[in-house]
Amino acid sequence: MTKMVRVRNLSFSYDGHPVLKNVNLDIEKEDFVAFVGPNGSGKSTLMKLMIGELVPDSGELRILGTEISEFREWSRIAYMSQQVRSFNYSFPATVKEIIAANLYQEMGFFKVLNKKLEEKVESILELVGLEDYKNKQIGSLSGGQQQRVFIARTLVNDPELIFLDEPMVGIDAAFQDDFIDLINRLNKDLGKCIVMVSHDIHVISKQANKIACFSNQNVFLHDSADFEIDEIYGEIGCQKRIIPEHQHINGGDTDA
Ligand SMILES: Nc1ncnc2c1ncn2[C@@H]1O[C@H](COP(=O)(O)OP(=O)(O)OP(=O)(O)O)[C@@H](O)[C@H]1O
Ligand SMILES: [Mg+2]
Repeated sequence: MTKMVRVRNLSFSYDGHPVLKNVNLDIEKEDFVAFVGPNGSGKSTLMKLMIGELVPDSGELRILGTEISEFREWSRIAYMSQQVRSFNYSFPATVKEIIAANLYQEMGFFKVLNKKLEEKVESILELVGLEDYKNKQIGSLSGGQQQRVFIARTLVNDPELIFLDEPMVGIDAAFQDDFIDLINRLNKDLGKCIVMVSHDIHVISKQANKIACFSNQNVFLHDSADFEIDEIYGEIGCQKRIIPEHQHINGGDTDA
């Protein structure tokens, strides 16, 4: 099995305030991993460490087999940040231009789309169901459609490893279903490795094969098949279950 991400004893703090301590985590090629946990538990921070936006204080972090400080093949990775919703939608660009902008490096000296790249953009628009909107201004689209544009933009480089930080926030239930279908297709049919932050554990625990629970500056990885949501406590329930199970996996206490 190919390791997409390997984290060993990783610690990180913002200006001396620890957020993650001695975190260990492996993500394999075929995984769809959900990051869950309360606000401020370090989900976005770990994702930013994994895409090289932040640098660990200590520990090991390998991406696609390479130590992150030496990693250069960024086009193999995609990231959609939690801040994408603060994008200025009055920006004068069409759907197609926004998506194609991510192909900039591939466009060559004249920075124009050649036929091959044009086809790439078309096929990605079809994948997210926006083929009829390609020449529309981004600002004229609904919130859910705009969200699709950003998903498409994330996917256009054909990345192997996709990080999505709360991509479903602010979109309606119908599109959430479409979106989850899309992510599932990317993972199961196209073999993409997905890492996604979500507060919707009910949705995510059915789709992801692994659940990474963030708690007390640590991260506990579960097989989603073993994972039961505590209906009453939600995320807090998840933490209650996670710690004993983690100890169980490591040969510690067996009962929750
Ligand atoms: N740029 C920053 N500078 C200083 N502290 C930060 C910064 N970004 C995040 N933090 C702090 O680090 C902790 C973890 O934040 P992070 O954004 O990773 O949480 P999160 O799990 O993604 O939360 P949410 O569910 O609200 O998105 C929080 O206490 C937060 O206040
Ligand atoms: Mg966050």
